[in-house]
Amino acid sequence: MAVLAIIGGSGFSSLPALEVRDARRIDTPFGETSAPVTRGLLGAREVLFLPRHGATHQLPPHRIDYRANLWALRACGAEAVVGLAAVGGITEDFGPTVIAVPDQIIDYTWGRAHTLYEGGESGVEHVDMTEPYCSRLRQALIASAARLGQPIVAHGTYGATQGPRLETSAEVARLERDGCDLIGMTGMPEAGIARELDLCYASLAFVVNWAAGKGEGVPITMREIEDNIQVCADRILAILTELAHDAP
Ligand code: HPA
Repeated sequence: MAVLAIIGGSGFSSLPALEVRDARRIDTPFGETSAPVTRGLLGAREVLFLPRHGATHQLPPHRIDYRANLWALRACGAEAVVGLAAVGGITEDFGPTVIAVPDQIIDYTWGRAHTLYEGGESGVEHVDMTEPYCSRLRQALIASAARLGQPIVAHGTYGATQGPRLETSAEVARLERDGCDLIGMTGMPEAGIARELDLCYASLAFVVNWAAGKGEGVPITMREIEDNIQVCADRILAILTELAHDAP
């Protein structure tokens, strides 16, 4: 059975359902990971956990060392990785508290260390990203939610923005014209580097606000975001625990 890793996002600096065994600092060729890699039991299964914003949520999206994080998880044996993602919702099906397993990405980020292949000794590679997420892991997440009777949206295009500020309403209108359903700040380069490392990576996204210009709430508040994280947290943990029984 593949070793499963979970990358925690906003709201998941730790994984309450995890029975922790140990936490290890991993040396990587790129620098420090966001936090030590925790190993523990989720249900009966050993999983790895790493909070991408750090143990105290001290790292903004553009300061996260995505390469170090994914490299370290692979060095610890991970083969499949679920990236948790608190996101803004753009299109009708993606209102606050909806949980989704997106199937496409558009990358609007810039200036981030986004590849393992920088030329020179690391070489030049062009990995295929036609389907940016691992279909086996997506299906396993969708099946886990179905077994729990939890409604989720089993598709969606994730727009990865630079942050840390939220978007203008014109930016969101542009993302919608581009075909985005969801917005987050960390989905790239995480998915691209995961593919370069040959990791089976999927995103489990939960909507914590209507994107700018889409809902009634002006301005979007951290309070609203935090409240919706709380509403989603137990359902996310239940899906992950169910997945741990059954992941590819
Ligand atoms: N935009 C970008 N990232 C986000 C949002 C948003 O509205 N909500 C949560 N992460």
